[in-house]
Amino acid sequence: MRGCERGDEAAIYGAPFHPGAFEKTLARTTSRYVCQNCGAAYPKWSGKCDACGEWNTLVEEQASESVPKGLGKGQGRKIEFVALSGVSKDAPRRMTQIQEFDRVCGGGLVNGSALLVGGDPGIGKSTLLLQVTCCLAQETRCAYISGEEAVDQVRMRAARLGLVNAPVALAAANNVRDIVASLEAADGPQVAVIDSIQTMYIDTLDSAPGTVAQVRACASELIRVAKKRGITLLIVGHVTKDGQIAGPRVLEHMVDTVLYFEGERGHQFRILRAVKNRFGPTDEIGVFEMSEDGLVEVPNPSELFLADRRRDITGTAVFAGLEGTRPVLVEVQALVAPSPLGTPRRAVVGWDSSRLAMVLAVLEARCGVAIGANDVYLSVAGGLKISEPAADLAVAAALVSSLTGEPVPADAVVFGEIGLSGEIRAVSQTDQRLKEATKLGFNRAIMPQPRRSRGGAGAAADGLRRVELDHLSDLMPLFQADAPPRPPRGRD
Ligand SMILES: Nc1ncnc2c1ncn2[C@@H]1O[C@H](COP(=O)(O)OP(=O)(O)OP(=O)(O)O)[C@@H](O)[C@H]1O
Ligand SMILES: [Mg+2]
Ligand SMILES: [Zn+2]
Repeated sequence: MRGCERGDEAAIYGAPFHPGAFEKTLARTTSRYVCQNCGAAYPKWSGKCDACGEWNTLVEEQASESVPKGLGKGQGRKIEFVALSGVSKDAPRRMTQIQEFDRVCGGGLVNGSALLVGGDPGIGKSTLLLQVTCCLAQETRCAYISGEEAVDQVRMRAARLGLVNAPVALAAANNVRDIVASLEAADGPQVAVIDSIQTMYIDTLDSAPGTVAQVRACASELIRVAKKRGITLLIVGHVTKDGQIAGPRVLEHMVDTVLYFEGERGHQFRILRAVKNRFGPTDEIGVFEMSEDGLVEVPNPSELFLADRRRDITGTAVFAGLEGTRPVLVEVQALVAPSPLGTPRRAVVGWDSSRLAMVLAVLEARCGVAIGANDVYLSVAGGLKISEPAADLAVAAALVSSLTGEPVPADAVVFGEIGLSGEIRAVSQTDQRLKEATKLGFNRAIMPQPRRSRGGAGAAADGLRRVELDHLSDLMPLFQADAPPRPPRGRD
């Protein structure tokens, strides 16, 4: 289905546009067929791409003879090698003063670097980059080049965001030749936004805008100029339905930094995540709220993610997580319900479904908690996606709570990794997690035993009672608070 849509697009845009078709007789060109999904190239057309399995994604491209003749006959110059120990300055950076953005970039924008912002349609990419350029514009020459929207549309957005007076140079353009000329001009910008790379084209190339060949060529040309002139290039890239930057992965290799702008439909939260960064860590997130006046920073996401929490209900646990350098508390919700189906349903939002299967299997095999024949729904509140194994114990607590009908203590945070034998493993940055929990008024932490005893419990976070678990089965007694010990209630 997905393949068909892409294929139709290629049929509409790809085939009839061959401006260079007449000159083909002179230049030595060969035809090849390039998958628009993964970038694999084939000498012949076929319906299905063998590399990625997508259908109808191959589009014809003209490739000129790329291997120059006579290589290695004394034509190259010897490269000057230098010692590794030389002194190099830190890359100079521009701070946008949007702290959530600066942190995700690794501490501001680096001069002469290329940054790609990917995200679903309508998630707020143009809004984010317009706000970023407007913040920089007081001290830096900034240009915003839109290939998708007319100048008026961008102006209207700026008016809505209250940014009309920022001295940003605005243009609607698609031709990379013109854009390069403008970037190379003496009074050219120091920061330039290209919105989006899929709408740009190089006029000497046969392919339509948005094809792998165009996207790759446009990006490499723009990045080359940016590096040469020390310009910071902010590129918008659209994302396909399976969450990759549309067309080629190659784009991600060409740029220095790749940020994804994510959010759940119907939630106002937006999360900016670094997935690649040559100038900083990749596990940072920035949290924004989409409002009438644009994106508003959320300096304390835990408060936001816990805002709608109701105490003393079953099937929820507050996970003390870590996103990059920052601790984030978030609610994990589980629902375990008898299944009418032969194959019970497993639905997960915001976590890894194979990780859920593992936790269920360990609960069953090591603790005798039979959830197997029930439907299981698991969701991370607020639209956050958790990838840390440290969430295992919080997930297990939410599941057991839903199954037994006993709430997890409302004043407790939970974290810890679960091993296959049911052992609870220590996780990193325990102190940071505990500090955040204390800050938000929690009194208890259900957590692993520390790797090495470091001078007794409660040393780091005062006032927080630590409930240290050695094995997953130690979790069960917490759900039988008032009752005499009884085996956990399984399926009848
Ligand atoms: N008048 C408005 N009031 C509040 N929010 C608005 C308003 N107009 C637009 N928005 C928000 O801005 C979002 C669109 O933002 P933006 O155009 O920056 O997204 P985008 O990622 O660039 O989209 P595209 O993929 O179309 O380029 C909308 O989804 C909506 O949430
Ligand atoms: Mg846009
Ligand atoms: Zn492919």
